[in-house]
Amino acid sequence: MTRTRIRDFHDDDLDGIIRLVEAAEQEAMTGSVPAPALYPLSEVLASCQRNQAVVAVRDEEIVGAAVGRAAHGQGAIVFFHVLDSVRDDPEQGTRAEAGLLDALERRLMPLGLGKLSMLVPGSTSAFAALLGNGFEARPELEYVERHLPVQRRELDRLKAVGGRVLPRHLWDSVSGMQEEKDMLEDRLVVPLAEPDLADHFGVVPPRAVMLFGPPGTGKTTFAKAVASRLDWPFVEVFPSRLSGEPGGVAAGLRSTFEQINELEHAVVFIDEVEEIASKRGGEPPSPTQGVTNELLKQVAEFRDREGRLLICATNFVRALDAAFLRHGRFDYVIPIGLPDATAREAIWSRYIPEHTVSAVDLPVLVDASDGLTPADIEYAARRASQEALASALRQQQVDIASRTDVLSTNDYLEALRATRATVSEETAREFGEDVETIARL
Ligand SMILES: Nc1ncnc2c1ncn2[C@@H]1O[C@H](COP(=O)(O)OP(=O)(O)OP(=O)(O)O)[C@@H](O)[C@H]1O
Ligand SMILES: [Mg+2]
Repeated sequence: MTRTRIRDFHDDDLDGIIRLVEAAEQEAMTGSVPAPALYPLSEVLASCQRNQAVVAVRDEEIVGAAVGRAAHGQGAIVFFHVLDSVRDDPEQGTRAEAGLLDALERRLMPLGLGKLSMLVPGSTSAFAALLGNGFEARPELEYVERHLPVQRRELDRLKAVGGRVLPRHLWDSVSGMQEEKDMLEDRLVVPLAEPDLADHFGVVPPRAVMLFGPPGTGKTTFAKAVASRLDWPFVEVFPSRLSGEPGGVAAGLRSTFEQINELEHAVVFIDEVEEIASKRGGEPPSPTQGVTNELLKQVAEFRDREGRLLICATNFVRALDAAFLRHGRFDYVIPIGLPDATAREAIWSRYIPEHTVSAVDLPVLVDASDGLTPADIEYAARRASQEALASALRQQQVDIASRTDVLSTNDYLEALRATRATVSEETAREFGEDVETIARL
């Protein structure tokens, strides 16, 4: 058998490196604990060309390689593997592995590194070789990773359609509304986030849903919360802003959806959709008819792609064109109604400063705010805070910053008296009818 020698990486070695990476993956995946590669092939190749790499060569063939990179005083080995055939040769095996590690270290050392490390599956031969060459295992560490929701190549596209990644945990900040949350979780979030699980149960992930309900009940809030929960970018489409586009709103919609379709994932939101999808017909045809037709077409095309969800919202679901709501376009037509007592309590607790909550009779406020929307309650709570601050300042109270009883139940009740309910009894009744006749869950 001929000798194995160690030398620097040349560009001609790329094919050999690719074969080695494949062999290493094979080994890692068939070990006692299968572990997919941490650095993809593209990263390994980039490091070969731009950083430090050494190869083991026998009979003109690449049989091993060690690839490293350095930054801020630390070095990392991104790839290290020797082919089985060489490793199993008692004459050469360990020599090739040790030789590669030594050679890589010698090349990295002049960069002034304090430490050299590698993340490696414990079941592989590379791990054993590293231990044999002076590396110490750190069993107290755990490896964690997070896939970022938007990849670099998508950033420009996302910006072009005004999309953004929302903060995580928005879902948790929606107070109360447990029934609605449970339903959205079961119908939307889980099937979209875990398509394999959904498929296992024969559940088809939704592509488009309609939220309807009186103003200020949280439709926009829920749409954003769903995007945040899925960790998908949120893209709001404003049809009214498309009127300046060449070809008008219809053409604007078409090109916006074309751009959105390029994204890997997205929650697309159209608020007040009744403005562009109200009942068609009439003579002469209303100017929005072409826009409604275009939207219908776009929804149909949108449905063909996975990994995205269209959420439309409206306050006037009964004004929508019947064709728009039919099965096959919108998977669900979901009512978002006034908050129940539990939800109102949670919403109050959110807006009452924490240190004063014990001085306030929450159940009284919950009762007194029956029929109000979350937005109304928010308004009342902020108004009470404003008034209390202003009055404390007027009375020149000295220790206001340290007192915990700066707001009382009465302050809130007074603010409530000055709060007009957004949803009239008439609207609430109509909403009830819509839930009976139009909602589809
Ligand atoms: N469950 C909730 N918990 C806390 N705050 C809420 C909740 N739902 C809504 N809000 C707050 O109420 C306000 C109005 O909510 P949102 O804009 O989502 O309502 P909407 O149904 O979209 O209203 P519109 O029909 O006017 O568009 C927002 O400030 C929001 O933060
Ligand atoms: Mg809204």
